[in-house]
Amino acid sequence: MNGLNARLLAIKCYINILSKKLFIEDSFSILNTKVKDEEIKEDDISFIKNLLHQAIRNKFHLENILFQNITKETNIKVVNLLILALCEYFYLNTKDYAIINTYVEASKKLNLTHYTSFINGVLRNIFRKDKTELFQTPIFPVENEIYNDLILSYGEQTAKNIYQELNHQKDLDLVVLNENILDKDFFTNKTTKIFNHLYRLNEYQKDVKTIAGFDKGSFFIQSFSSYFAIYLVSNYLENSNSIADLCASPGGKSILLNLYSKKNIDAYDISKNKLLTMEHNLSRLNLNNSIHLYQKDILSFENFYNYDFILIDSPCSATGTINKHPEIIHNKTLKDIKSLAENQFKLLNHVYQNTKPQTYIYYCTCSLQKQEGEEVINKLVNNKKDIKIIPLNQNQDINHTLKDINGLQTDNIFTKQGLLRILPHHLFGGTEGFFAALLLKE
Ligand SMILES: C[S@@+](CC[C@H](N)C(=O)[O-])C[C@H]1O[C@@H](n2cnc3c(N)ncnc32)[C@H](O)[C@@H]1O
Repeated sequence: MNGLNARLLAIKCYINILSKKLFIEDSFSILNTKVKDEEIKEDDISFIKNLLHQAIRNKFHLENILFQNITKETNIKVVNLLILALCEYFYLNTKDYAIINTYVEASKKLNLTHYTSFINGVLRNIFRKDKTELFQTPIFPVENEIYNDLILSYGEQTAKNIYQELNHQKDLDLVVLNENILDKDFFTNKTTKIFNHLYRLNEYQKDVKTIAGFDKGSFFIQSFSSYFAIYLVSNYLENSNSIADLCASPGGKSILLNLYSKKNIDAYDISKNKLLTMEHNLSRLNLNNSIHLYQKDILSFENFYNYDFILIDSPCSATGTINKHPEIIHNKTLKDIKSLAENQFKLLNHVYQNTKPQTYIYYCTCSLQKQEGEEVINKLVNNKKDIKIIPLNQNQDINHTLKDINGLQTDNIFTKQGLLRILPHHLFGGTEGFFAALLLKE
């Protein structure tokens, strides 16, 4: 694929991601099937993906630079094209003359001939200025409602810390399940142990499938936060006889529940496709016999009485994973958060109503918004007398372990009620934002 066509594809994807609220991956595969004129090679795909990730991740910053350098309002398509051009200049270091040539050509192909000289002029003007000085434009998304909600919940400085941490690609964390079939050299030289089974890759790895040992199922990807949340309840898991994971796919937490309980897990999910992915993941890890899959809508299922430990890893806005999916901050609104929170309460309340006494319910989400975490929990425990919060920070062993985790801000990760609230900057090098609450139905 030539450079111009790659840019044309990238511009179409970029517009689709923002206008149709798509994930970057999804925008790409939709268009991919439609490009028939030219073969798209692996290199093109990775170039376009990288350009899209960088442009979406740095959209606020790039728009700031652009809008300081244009005086009149212009067509949104033109703005999007210019953002990608500037992204190549500031974040991918493409040569300025090549950018001008390609994006001016692209504007002609996109029926923006009317704007060609404007695009040419804006780019030339910006490229003539001091790059380092321009780059220092403030990057905080002061007009974004998700960001403003973080300021309301955590204060301005913490919101800035969160955003700064989320705004770059984080290195991946891996959970090692079988040390015996591990590529020891790779793990010694290319990873740092965080604690227990959890390792962090020392540098960004484009495709983990190429790491030796992946096919044999020696490890899987899981963020520190998710791993730590399940580790925190390991005592309860060991003492439980039957365990269910109600929103299970693609399966990371079911695997951890199995690891820490050493028991079989019943894993439910509403989505057939996601369960197929999970089945595939489990078979790679040789865990098909330990984790049993069921396709069910939890809200239409009323028999949780067999279980004494139930995990609800609820569908959420996933704002804690903006480092992996930078499009989330642009595509989620407070209206979405409100409706997600209503659904989360519905799920939690339904499970609470259909469990036997002495059942532990472990509710978690990868959202940073308190509406989807603390507020869901308090709405239930403040209105029901027979359910209480079990603080997650009052276990001696856990306090001991916390000291061993390098770079973790242990004082900050629990709320006054003993709920887990990990923010992305709480771990040195960053991690996903995560919330978890352990409840006991009495
Ligand atoms: C946050 S994801 C779970 C991630 C998973 N626990 C893991 O660690 O890999 C939420 C999951 O809930 C499922 N889900 C959403 N609504 C559901 C419902 N009413 N009943 C069952 N599963 C549901 C979704 O299909 C999705 O796979």
